[in-house]
Amino acid sequence: EEDVFKKIVSHCKEYGFVFPSSEIYPEGLAAVYDYGPNGVELKNNIKKYWWDSMVLLHNNIVGIDAAIFMNPTVWKASGHVDAFNDPLIDNRDSKKRYRADNLIEDQIAKYEEKIEKEVKKAAKKYGDAFDEAEFRSTNKRVLEHQKKRDDLHARYTAAMQGPDLEELKQIILDEGIVDPISGTKNWTDVRQFNLMFSTEMGSTADTTKKIYLRPETAQGIFVNFLNVQRTTRNKLPFGIAQIGKAFRNEIVARQFVFRMREFEQMEMQFFCQPGTEMKWFEYWKKHRLQWHEALGMGDENYRFHDHEKLAHYANAATDIEFKMPFGFKEVEGIHSRTNFDLSQHEKYSGTKMRYFDPETNESYVPYDVETSIGVDRMFLSVMCHSYEEEKLENGSTRVVLHLPEPLAPIKCAVLPLVNKDGLPEKAKEIQDELKFHFTTHIEAKDSIGKRYRRQDAIGTPFCVTVDGDTLKDNTVTLRFRDSMKQERVPIENLRGIIEDRVSI
Ligand code: GAP
Repeated sequence: EEDVFKKIVSHCKEYGFVFPSSEIYPEGLAAVYDYGPNGVELKNNIKKYWWDSMVLLHNNIVGIDAAIFMNPTVWKASGHVDAFNDPLIDNRDSKKRYRADNLIEDQIAKYEEKIEKEVKKAAKKYGDAFDEAEFRSTNKRVLEHQKKRDDLHARYTAAMQGPDLEELKQIILDEGIVDPISGTKNWTDVRQFNLMFSTEMGSTADTTKKIYLRPETAQGIFVNFLNVQRTTRNKLPFGIAQIGKAFRNEIVARQFVFRMREFEQMEMQFFCQPGTEMKWFEYWKKHRLQWHEALGMGDENYRFHDHEKLAHYANAATDIEFKMPFGFKEVEGIHSRTNFDLSQHEKYSGTKMRYFDPETNESYVPYDVETSIGVDRMFLSVMCHSYEEEKLENGSTRVVLHLPEPLAPIKCAVLPLVNKDGLPEKAKEIQDELKFHFTTHIEAKDSIGKRYRRQDAIGTPFCVTVDGDTLKDNTVTLRFRDSMKQERVPIENLRGIIEDRVSI
């Protein structure tokens, strides 16, 4: 399955979805990526799908677009200056740097794998007579691995509370964790490392100050709470949505766009009355899962992961995870952030962050439930789910992206069967009509078979082929990506058929 992931990464590059940043320079720039012509279309479609479902369909949610730079005290108030850290450890031999928590989590996963291996082995051996639950609760080796896993998990969770950096190192030593590159246990101490990027603003030495690139878009919403409430005259509960770039100096190891240093978030803060936050937390959990499932990528590929360890601002938190080739991974977080952020900004700015409730005649700091999803992770989940090397009946293979049709970069390719006899001109005429309604593409070179394959590889759901008969009777061949079935249809019906299936 790791192999499949590698293929998806190279497919993304080969077909104009994602390019590594500054690639013409030998070192490039690690964990930063550029989106190509097809990638940007897919990404824009994901953003539109989110924006429409949040802002267009909710009367009580409005959008904003706040700046990336903010007054640096914002990040003091939010807790990011003091608490937005990763515990890092270096291996002296390989000179590689790792997140101590990742090393330990990988070790926990290893015990997990050992257990599953035993179960698989026994299932094979005993066949139909195998009682899995019984085996898991009685087999000696399974119980040993389970105990090691649970002990390690408990020790790790306790160490992360502080976090206790010496204890994290001690766990790594006690477990005998080795550096995957050098294979040695030559570890340094664990140090805290702040994830925020900083730069300087100002033109003279004494007016210059250190400012940060935002590590989340959320704070741009909190600092504008009063502005938005006043100008929209919205009553609680109401939400503010935003899509934008965020920056984190992540320690990363070949995870492609899953963990980047510059990425994009789609966040919505839902402000509500104190005491109602759990109701809204449940509402948004359900609503957000439905949003994912509506894309048709298989309900079984999603699961919630409720947090035991909560961030400094939260009183409840869950992730929506998607099944990637490298396991179930977080795509979205839903957090009940209490009144932490608004209260902190009140404290640090000296501005009252209150809402006057006309029904109770009270003013208070609203509570907040956040939904936060990474555009790039969503993009990756869509790519991973859609990619298939399909064996065809005639023995050949085609690479096809089964993208949800509304997300496809190109909805319809118009292909003259041959590059002569008036067919390219007719194709152009058809495209000129369709291009006002959805993304189209026109291509005359190469055999029709090759052109179909290229469209399959970028996930184009519809190909329209223009042939000699088209000039006589104004009908074309409409080819469907997934089934490869072909139908003869009048040109005038194309727009309706396609629009029905691709509109967001
Ligand atoms: N405002 C809350 C917040 O930022 P988070 O769990 O740190 O919460 C939310 O991030 C989402 O942003 C994640 O679920 C993930 O999809 C995305 N994300 C976070 N860090 C990322 C990174 N380094 N690269 C790509 N996406 C990232």
